[in-house]
Amino acid sequence: MKKIKVAVVGCGAIAQRRHIPEYAANPNVEFVAFVDPVIERAEELAAKYNAKAFTSYEAMLSEIKPEAVSVCTPNYLHAPVTIAAANAGAHVLVEKPMASTDEEAAAMIEAASKNGVYLMVGHNQRLMPPHVKAKQLLQSGALGRVLTFRTSFGHPGPEGWSVDGKGSWFFRKEEAIMGAMGDLGVHKSDLIRYLLDDEVAQVTGYIGTLDKEGTDVDDNATCLLRMKSGAIGTLVASWTYYKGEDNSTVFWCENGVMKIGTDPKDQIIVELRNGTVERYNVGAISTNDKQETSGVVDAFIESLLTNTKPSISGEEGRKSLAVILAAFESQATGRVISL
Ligand SMILES: NC(=O)c1ccc[n+]([C@@H]2O[C@H](COP(=O)([O-])OP(=O)(O)OC[C@H]3O[C@@H](n4cnc5c(N)ncnc54)[C@H](O)[C@@H]3O)[C@@H](O)[C@H]2O)c1
Repeated sequence: MKKIKVAVVGCGAIAQRRHIPEYAANPNVEFVAFVDPVIERAEELAAKYNAKAFTSYEAMLSEIKPEAVSVCTPNYLHAPVTIAAANAGAHVLVEKPMASTDEEAAAMIEAASKNGVYLMVGHNQRLMPPHVKAKQLLQSGALGRVLTFRTSFGHPGPEGWSVDGKGSWFFRKEEAIMGAMGDLGVHKSDLIRYLLDDEVAQVTGYIGTLDKEGTDVDDNATCLLRMKSGAIGTLVASWTYYKGEDNSTVFWCENGVMKIGTDPKDQIIVELRNGTVERYNVGAISTNDKQETSGVVDAFIESLLTNTKPSISGEEGRKSLAVILAAFESQATGRVISL
């Protein structure tokens, strides 16, 4: 069987913990290159997987011509690396947030389309078993219309996650562009759009740097969202949940409530107004401490093998990013932003 030649650009935490092991476990993949300015990171992986190490993605793209590229770099490089890879004829799986601006996101989509390659965004929350089940339950209609919701994602911050710890790019605004909101908030804007099959109509954001020292990227955000359907809810992202890490979503609906990720054992609990309680143990939601297989890499490879556009496309990533950018605009102007 012909294997897809994959290059990984950025060999830090997300590459090491999810992309690389998931590619390695996929029988249809062959690694051809690893890129990182910290060359030892790339070299170690290149030696392990019999591939080449590079410090520059431009040099890698012109020398190797990979068929697919994972972009696992700091945020400010997502657009330039994606566009360069697409122009070199490679399909791209880019980490979230897909870009720093809407213009960049549009240019990435355009580059993929112009070159006839696929662009997928690593919005792995959609594929987590509790969220897959939650979508089914919402679609079944048993809960009725969603009236209001809250979705939140908080952990102690990227210093405990990034390969560079406290010295990480996550805390440098020129490279991160956005802090907790871009890191965690965009997961939740994507999840809400996906689970509700609805778009965000209006956003108000309160975003600040409350506790992380020596940085001006945001470490906390609380946003109000009004959906096109009329549902109203809150979206919270935090890097200062030093205790009580949280990745949960609750929907209050006409016929009851659905709680996702609020119970240590059952990932979904549905309580209906008629007194029925349903509990679903369907598999964990990933946390920083306990990584679950994301499914993103398998979905990306499957789409290349079957020549099918990825469902978590550039267009989807762009809409989820737009919500986050609107929240920043709201914070800056003090206004409600309509999308
Ligand atoms: N989907 C998820 O759940 C999830 C989780 C964590 C991070 N991420 C995203 O993944 C991306 C990477 O984050 P991370 O946690 O791996 O960060 P990290 O700090 O652990 O690693 C980043 C790596 O990129 C390298 N790098 C810097 N400049 C580069 C360049 N020009 N070319 C190639 N590599 C370069 C760094 O040397 C480092 O090794 C970010 O966009 C982040 O938002 C996604």
